[in-house]
Amino acid sequence: MCGIIGCVGCGDQTLTTLVHGLSKLEYRGYDSAGVALVGDDGLQVVKKAGELDSLRGELDALEGVSGTLGVGHTRWSTHGPPTDENAHPHQDCTGDVGVVHNGIIENYQSLRDELESAGHTFESDTDTEVVPHLVEEGLEDGLDAEAAFREAVSRLDGAFALACVVAGSDAVLVARNDSPLVLGIDDGATYLASDVPAFREFTDRVVYLDDGEFARLDADGWRVSDVKGETIEKSVETVEWDAEDTGKSGYDHFMLKEIHEQPRALRQCLQGRVDELGGTVTLEELGDLEPDRIHLVAAGTSYHAAVYGSQLLQADGVPAQAFFAHEYASSPPPDTDALVVGVSQSGETADTLSATRTARRHGAETLALTNTVGSTMARECDHVCYIRSGPEIGVAATKTFAGQQTALNLLTQVATPGPSDRDVIEALRELPSDTQEILDESNAETVAEELLDSDAYFFIGRALNYPVALEGALKMKEITYKHAEGFAAGELKHGPLALVTGNTPVFATVVGDGELARKTIGNVKEVEARDAPVVAVTDGVSDVKRYADHVLEVPDTHPRTAAILANVQLQLVSYYTAAKLGRSIDKPRNLAKSVTVE
Ligand code: G6P
Repeated sequence: MCGIIGCVGCGDQTLTTLVHGLSKLEYRGYDSAGVALVGDDGLQVVKKAGELDSLRGELDALEGVSGTLGVGHTRWSTHGPPTDENAHPHQDCTGDVGVVHNGIIENYQSLRDELESAGHTFESDTDTEVVPHLVEEGLEDGLDAEAAFREAVSRLDGAFALACVVAGSDAVLVARNDSPLVLGIDDGATYLASDVPAFREFTDRVVYLDDGEFARLDADGWRVSDVKGETIEKSVETVEWDAEDTGKSGYDHFMLKEIHEQPRALRQCLQGRVDELGGTVTLEELGDLEPDRIHLVAAGTSYHAAVYGSQLLQADGVPAQAFFAHEYASSPPPDTDALVVGVSQSGETADTLSATRTARRHGAETLALTNTVGSTMARECDHVCYIRSGPEIGVAATKTFAGQQTALNLLTQVATPGPSDRDVIEALRELPSDTQEILDESNAETVAEELLDSDAYFFIGRALNYPVALEGALKMKEITYKHAEGFAAGELKHGPLALVTGNTPVFATVVGDGELARKTIGNVKEVEARDAPVVAVTDGVSDVKRYADHVLEVPDTHPRTAAILANVQLQLVSYYTAAKLGRSIDKPRNLAKSVTVE
């Protein structure tokens, strides 16, 4: 989704700071980029369709683009195709107002009609462009820049994070409603961004803006105010991760780095929450919450974690159900006694926020299970449980999925009456080192190479390995653009088997040698009989290897953690398949890391 950066107080480093910030926001997904700077020469706007390098090229060609404050933007198209004209910042008729926006302005068409009737001319197809023209109206009415911006924002319906600069004004003006914005506070300089990595290199002190808040950044610092202009006291928080955490650390891609960060991420998730000696799990954040039933709402990869979590809870006697967030938001089930858990790595996904808000409106208690400290979901829900994976930059979620699965194991132990399950606790304790073992020994790259020319990739599993199959397929399609599907193994013969050929490998996760394993091996034989190459993801306890063309090993552990480990092998297969196909692994086409529109 769109990314916003802004800065005041960076002197002759203003342009460099903005472009650096944009490069740190690339991970959110975008298809054009631009900057607006205010200096002695007034407002200068430069914007280009395509990758950030196109913008850099344009800035180099133009030379002399400079200013002492400014804003920048990466656009992920919603209204209108990715062209230079539709790229942000957008300007008014005079060229003195520059605006960047993340979100959707729902009443833009009526505002545009009104402004066009009043003589304004528009250059783009975007909803955003109404904002600079509205600011222009205010300026023409004699308002100062800040008042004109407030007046403009008061006309808008929808979701927005907005930043505005005006020629001759010494401030960056900011407003937030339903789209993330955070200020970075440094000595002598102030930043704003959609996400902390954009300015983390310069400061670790941040102020998260809430819905309905405005901010003014100028040479004197920053001030947050409400819709009436009254000052709001905000606390300055400290970010707990380093700028290096958002670099590639020598890996070819963020995704590979983040796959390899999983042992550390899982250790962080477990730290201080599992008492191995006493055999207990504590999630202090939840107090003495004892839910009668749990609804898990989520989208994408997080939905697969939610399905996994609902199975854990059900197995331990807590009625639980996973829902697609968008469906829950529009037709929530009537039971308000459920604890509604929003599972979201970003804590900003519009569908999931909409679901937790619906739940709150209906009187349900809510919990955010998220990776992002200070995110909207974390602040809005009654409780928050952080998964502590550290920043995830690759669009395709990896370590945060494992973190969600791990945190859901902890939640299950806490939500279940009676003592914790010592076998689960022991398996969780070993999870980081088991994950490391896979990373050290995986043959996933060879498997990816040998199956590279396949027509499609299928993934099957039962019970806890069903969401693993779904996630294995999602990862494969997201980053390789190959056809991939995940199926409940038991459903295979009820339809999907028609798709199976000698050129459609089937990845089957088989753990232990109980009934589920035996039945899945039955499915393996069915696809083998249709000549499909079989990849067994297995702890080797059963004899599935006999029927497999390739084996991806996972350590012999508890089935609950085996489902986390099996996914690590599948992440690696997808990664190496995409790498060998030369795909844009960290920024797959058409996708965004955090989808902040419904
Ligand atoms: C987008 C991303 C997915 C992600 C989903 C949910 O669609 O491309 O990778 O799983 O959003 O994101 P969340 O931040 O809520 O986990």
